[in-house]
Amino acid sequence: MKTKRIEFLASLCSDYTTVYDLCCDHGKIGKILLNQKKYVHFIDINKEIIDKLKDQNLDNCSIKAMSILDIRSIEQNAALIVAGIGSKLASDFLAHITAKIDHTNTIIISSQGSMNLLLDSINKNKFTRVDEYIIEDRGRFYEIYILKKLQDFTVNRMMNKHLDDPKFKSYKDKQIKHLKNKEE
Ligand SMILES: C[S@@+](CC[C@H](N)C(=O)[O-])C[C@H]1O[C@@H](n2cnc3c(N)ncnc32)[C@H](O)[C@@H]1O
Repeated sequence: MKTKRIEFLASLCSDYTTVYDLCCDHGKIGKILLNQKKYVHFIDINKEIIDKLKDQNLDNCSIKAMSILDIRSIEQNAALIVAGIGSKLASDFLAHITAKIDHTNTIIISSQGSMNLLLDSINKNKFTRVDEYIIEDRGRFYEIYILKKLQDFTVNRMMNKHLDDPKFKSYKDKQIKHLKNKEE
């Protein structure tokens, strides 16, 4: 089933003809993009998942079983989607990939758990938040950050700019509680 979250993540790649669907699992995000005639690199650490994707004989893509922390290089002019993973792995991924991409790439990242960990890693690894969203899908909230490597990087210590929207109040309260627990 294509969910609102998956459709939204795929829609953020409209400017790119090559996309990396990282931690792809079912490959639903990448498959939407294949239907839009984009080239997709599917990557997941789980070999069984990757074998299932390979059995589907998809065209116009590469399909690899490997850790996103072992990626050696990234094509220029490509978007990278990393979603549905914990904030620790998302943070480690940014540290790993920071020296391997340039201003022609865009990272679309959405993790679960402590947003603080992810936002710290975005700053530490000198990524600029060019846009950000919160979406609600079937009762769960997802923060999504669009990151680029720009020359004029400045640290951004703000939480997601949409958190003050009243419709995200319950989610904001949860994130603040998370933060307080960390500080204690
Ligand atoms: C919940 S799924 C996310 C699927 C999809 N990206 C989404 O947003 O719906 C998480 C996937 O991450 C994969 N994964 C976990 N650690 C990984 C790593 N270090 N490198 C690559 N894939 C990993 C798991 O095998 C699993 O398929």
